[in-house]
Amino acid sequence: MCGIVGAVAQRNITPILIEGLKRLEYRGYDSCGVALHVDGRLQRSRSTARVAELETQMASAKLEGFTGIAHTRWATHGAPLSHNAHPHFSPTEESARIALVHNGIIENHDELRAELAALGYVFTSQTDTEVIAHLVDHMYNGDLFDTVQQAVKRLHGAYAIAVFTREEPHRVVAARQGSPLIVGVGQGENFVASDAMALAGTTDQIIYLEEGDVVDLQLGRYWIVDVDGRPATRDVKTVHAHTGAAELGPYRHYMQKEIFEQPRVIGDTLEGVTGIMPELFGDNAYKVFKQIDRVLILACGTSYYAGLTAKYWIESVAKVPCSVEIASEYRYRDSVPHPNTLVVTITQSGETADTLAALKHARSLGMVHTLTICNVATSAMVRECALAYITRAGVEVGVASTKAFTTQLAALFLLTLTLAQINGRLSDDDEATYLKQMRHLPVALAAVLALEPQIIAWAEDFARKENALFLGRGIHYPIALEGALKLKEISYIHAEAYPAGELKHGPLALVTEEMPVVTIAPNDALLEKLKSNMQEVRARGGQLYVFADVDSRITSSDGVHVIRLPEHYGLLSPILHVAALQLLAYHTALARGTDVDKPRNLAKSVTVE
Ligand code: M6R
Repeated sequence: MCGIVGAVAQRNITPILIEGLKRLEYRGYDSCGVALHVDGRLQRSRSTARVAELETQMASAKLEGFTGIAHTRWATHGAPLSHNAHPHFSPTEESARIALVHNGIIENHDELRAELAALGYVFTSQTDTEVIAHLVDHMYNGDLFDTVQQAVKRLHGAYAIAVFTREEPHRVVAARQGSPLIVGVGQGENFVASDAMALAGTTDQIIYLEEGDVVDLQLGRYWIVDVDGRPATRDVKTVHAHTGAAELGPYRHYMQKEIFEQPRVIGDTLEGVTGIMPELFGDNAYKVFKQIDRVLILACGTSYYAGLTAKYWIESVAKVPCSVEIASEYRYRDSVPHPNTLVVTITQSGETADTLAALKHARSLGMVHTLTICNVATSAMVRECALAYITRAGVEVGVASTKAFTTQLAALFLLTLTLAQINGRLSDDDEATYLKQMRHLPVALAAVLALEPQIIAWAEDFARKENALFLGRGIHYPIALEGALKLKEISYIHAEAYPAGELKHGPLALVTEEMPVVTIAPNDALLEKLKSNMQEVRARGGQLYVFADVDSRITSSDGVHVIRLPEHYGLLSPILHVAALQLLAYHTALARGTDVDKPRNLAKSVTVE
């Protein structure tokens, strides 16, 4: 989703802004732009192509400057066209006094637009952002820091903004409410960005702005005020942002690289886990886990499916009641809160607006015991939750989540065992067995990934289809959901997932010879039932693509294609099966020639509601 970079320095900042935008590309965007203070004027360059194209455009225009802002836009209000790309100027292009970039959604933009239009401002875009640029211009009183503090009081909704003016050449002012923004402190120069990774290589001295903060960046000094306009002191942290993600190595796409990184990052996520100890989740975790008698999981998308999988574990192993809610729905319905609930948010980015809002809603209902399973230690979610388990997937660039999902599952299994131990449901023998299985996961996963050639052969068939069904039962039903989501996201094939027992209650009507039906068939207690469901598909001519276990006793025959996963992994089997489904989605998308890492319309970090 939208990314922001800004800088005040005594050197040409164009390379810093462009590099920052490149580092934010992974979030997803459909246009981009840069504005600079050049010889007493504001100048900008915008593009609906990639950042590399913008870079070429700026080089041919010789656009250089010491103060400026840059942006990648993921369209919400107004199509992804050049005139909607940020930075936005006010009052006009020719006499630009204010330049502004924004991430978020201004809910009262219609009302403000009418008010500013009545004052004579002419709008050249359909964005909610242009409203803020004109508002700042209208309220400008010769002091940009003061003006922005007054202007943001008029905004309803979520925003991170960076703004500068022709009148004050060595100043950028930024503010945040509901969308992420950090400050980078340099030597005699200062920066602002959506995340620390955007500034990797420029500065590692990072301030995480808090909700409602407004910051004044000048040469060699910065100043922060809080939501009430009081001077605020924020810690400067040394952040070694990952930059290694930029190298693809032998892989064609980041998604493929990230799928193959899973054995290592699961090992990293579980590194140091020598036994089940509540302290793995935070110093206070034992006390909190002792007080709770139920779990409420809040998450979106793939992280939600991790939550659905964990529900099976938590209820069957720890015997703790667990409900899982789609974060964007949860806060808009009346639910029955219970104070002894452990609220668990799952989010790879830690910045998903819906999940953050759901957490706040749960807290407002009196549920104060909060834990997050998150991949970004410095994210808003980790700062908001009392307890945390940080997965160590590393930076995930592909929009379609893969390694973040499996590391979430590893952490959730650990949480399950911890709750089981606290509840007296984990014997020493159980603990030793589960730990052994967890430690063996990297090896087992590597064996699944070695099936890639067989999966590529299937992907050739799938690439010619427009629909697919995914079936699973029990704990593999959420994995079927995740497999269908992966295929949808990157190959644009319409895919749906069902618990196999539901087939005859409706979706069987869709099954014809044209319908590939992916079936997850581990050798578990539901295997015989699943085999009956497979017969129902075959009887209607449906083509079965079965991921079976080595001892599932399912053989290939006419219309039944079987790939055997090397070993059955009991409760951890979902982690192995999903890796095979990720490869199927990846190779199908590759065969269809889609933009695997940046699928259309999607963003990596969904920072607006
Ligand atoms: O950063 P989060 O885990 O909170 O993101 C949640 C979803 O937006 C995310 O999982 C999304 O569904 C992915 N594109 C799935 O591949």
